[in-house]
Amino acid sequence: MDKDLGNYRKSYEKNELLESNVPENPLELFQKWFYEVENSGGVDEANAMTISTIGLDNFPKSRIVLLKKYTYEGFIFYTNYNSEKGKAISQNPNVCLSFFWPNMERQIIIKGKAEKIAANLSDGYFESRPLGSKLGAIASNQSEIIASKEVLEQKLKILETQYEGKEVLRPENWGGYIVKPVSIEFWQGRPNRLHDRIRYSLRDDYNWSIDRLSP
Ligand SMILES: Cc1cc2nc3c(=O)[nH]c(=O)nc-3n(C[C@H](O)[C@H](O)[C@H](O)COP(=O)(O)O)c2cc1C
Repeated sequence: MDKDLGNYRKSYEKNELLESNVPENPLELFQKWFYEVENSGGVDEANAMTISTIGLDNFPKSRIVLLKKYTYEGFIFYTNYNSEKGKAISQNPNVCLSFFWPNMERQIIIKGKAEKIAANLSDGYFESRPLGSKLGAIASNQSEIIASKEVLEQKLKILETQYEGKEVLRPENWGGYIVKPVSIEFWQGRPNRLHDRIRYSLRDDYNWSIDRLSP
């Protein structure tokens, strides 16, 4: 196979990111960009983000999860604590989140430390999920090898009967992580590959320093 993508080329010219225009706190810029992307109507799952972890095998691994909440403290997503990413985080909490919103020609890259959120917060979110998602979370030992698809479907059927009319509580191995940022880079595509890159880094005094990076 030989497919050359050398001619795939696009000029980015929709927006501009200037130091003179950015807030002191990067979470406020994140919020601004997130609203703009949501309101642009051109992104299906604006909250889909890549999370990269360093695994037990020492390789980085990236996969998509859904951002479910952000605050001044950080970025929250939910998963199985025993999954490959959960095990990776328990050994090394340093993670990287990234968003790519092609219609706005924007990328955000967040380095931070992941930690489990309080159990009652995970309970609250689990409770809000539809029944099928709750049972799915119980049925799936995320990241484990399974004998076949049928085994999982059978497991779900059994759970459906078992839980009929009963409350489904959050399994202890499922819940949220908050990623507390130490650096956040905002990337805005510009013409001639002279893209705008503004990086916030958390200082020891918990203020943020702001730098422009060469594209
Ligand atoms: C759009 C999209 C959203 C996803 N959201 C989540 C999520 O919020 N939580 C999650 O655990 N997995 C989510 N997944 C599945 C993950 O990408 C991944 O397959 C799973 O978490 C297992 O990863 P791991 O084996 O590396 O731990 C999502 C996948 C896609 C494509």
